[in-house]
Amino acid sequence: MTTSFDNAAQVLTPPEPGLRYLRSHRAGELALEPGGVTVEHGRIAAVEPSADADIHVDASGCALLPGLVDCHTHLPFAGWRAQEYEQKVTGVPYEQIARAGGGIASSARALRETPDSAVLAQAQQLAGEMLRSGTTTFECKSGYGLSIAGELRALQLATELAGIVSQVTTRTALLAHAVPDGYTAGSWMDEVEAMLPEALEHASALDIFVESIAFGLDDLDRVGRLASANGVRLRAHVEQFSTMRSVSVALKHNARSLDHLSAIHPDDIGPLADSECAAVLLPGAEVMGDEATAPARDLIAAGAIMVLATDGNPGTSPIFSLPLIVGLGVRRYGLSTREALLAVTLNAAYVLDLQSDLGSIELDKRADLVLLDCPAEHIAYRLGRNPVAAAFVGGEPAYVRPDAAWRIMER
Ligand code: NIG
Ligand code: FE
Repeated sequence: MTTSFDNAAQVLTPPEPGLRYLRSHRAGELALEPGGVTVEHGRIAAVEPSADADIHVDASGCALLPGLVDCHTHLPFAGWRAQEYEQKVTGVPYEQIARAGGGIASSARALRETPDSAVLAQAQQLAGEMLRSGTTTFECKSGYGLSIAGELRALQLATELAGIVSQVTTRTALLAHAVPDGYTAGSWMDEVEAMLPEALEHASALDIFVESIAFGLDDLDRVGRLASANGVRLRAHVEQFSTMRSVSVALKHNARSLDHLSAIHPDDIGPLADSECAAVLLPGAEVMGDEATAPARDLIAAGAIMVLATDGNPGTSPIFSLPLIVGLGVRRYGLSTREALLAVTLNAAYVLDLQSDLGSIELDKRADLVLLDCPAEHIAYRLGRNPVAAAFVGGEPAYVRPDAAWRIMER
């Protein structure tokens, strides 16, 4: 079965094949030119249209992008925390909400009290929303388990979710998210170490929340050692509210990404940018939490691999739309369209170690494609509008907006 995407106004392609990532100061080298794509057996067979394809997609007036990759979400979780958002916007700080038993602990209670089927139903529903806004790959994390059984259950549910959604998913074990009641950070880390073999049956990365109300640099060091010893990627939530100076500790363990960075120390920008550790910025959490602004332009100028993600979770960022995140990121950080697109495609795929299979429109990669009903520049400009006309996963139309159905024609 061959599908040809014909006559697109813009096709986003990388400057050369086989890139693991592209440092964001080179984003201007991405091409966003008229053209087409041919898909065969779910893979990209040519970066040009084919006259004798079985199916033709009329992409006239459209931007054709690689499927968007959301490399940082907290799916699966149970319920929402709208009440807390109201508290937050009316002046109660996040730390205070968390210390009063809200925040992560309240989502942990909700998860514990919700049956598997309902947790999965909520996550599946959100995955559908994400698909309709162009996300064809996303990361899941544990982190709302806050007990050994709870964390392992969250990872098990994330594995089950993979079987019932259209997207490609990955799993990260965020085993050190908040210190559970009855533990110190250190004694909980002993439990983390003990549950690791079972957790890593499901997960390909480890994560930790380094913050005054969560875990410290020693714990980060320990998770780093565990990640290296077990051959999985290290990721970390760092410098979100407080300047913890996590960067050098994480880089020592070859972290694949450091996420948040709103409060990064200026002296840590250069070392992070020189490394192969991606800087994952989360403008949804920054806006919703009225956080400091991550120094995106300084990171980019210094050579960082910059990434944007939703951080989709019931607390700090109940946002699951990457087009909205792109819009917020462009305005807040002063990003070009290409910098923002790179940050939700190839560079995000690199964070998940999927860059050789997806994340860009190039020969032999999975045909995960998103068709926008407008030029790519409109994603940020028409803030909050969903520009996605169709999303293709492995060459198959996984979502087609009804008013775009006419574009897909079988011969
Ligand atoms: O990425 N920072 C820590 N973890 C989440 C928030 C989790 C929550 O509040 O439920 C984050 O922002
Ligand atoms: Fe997060």
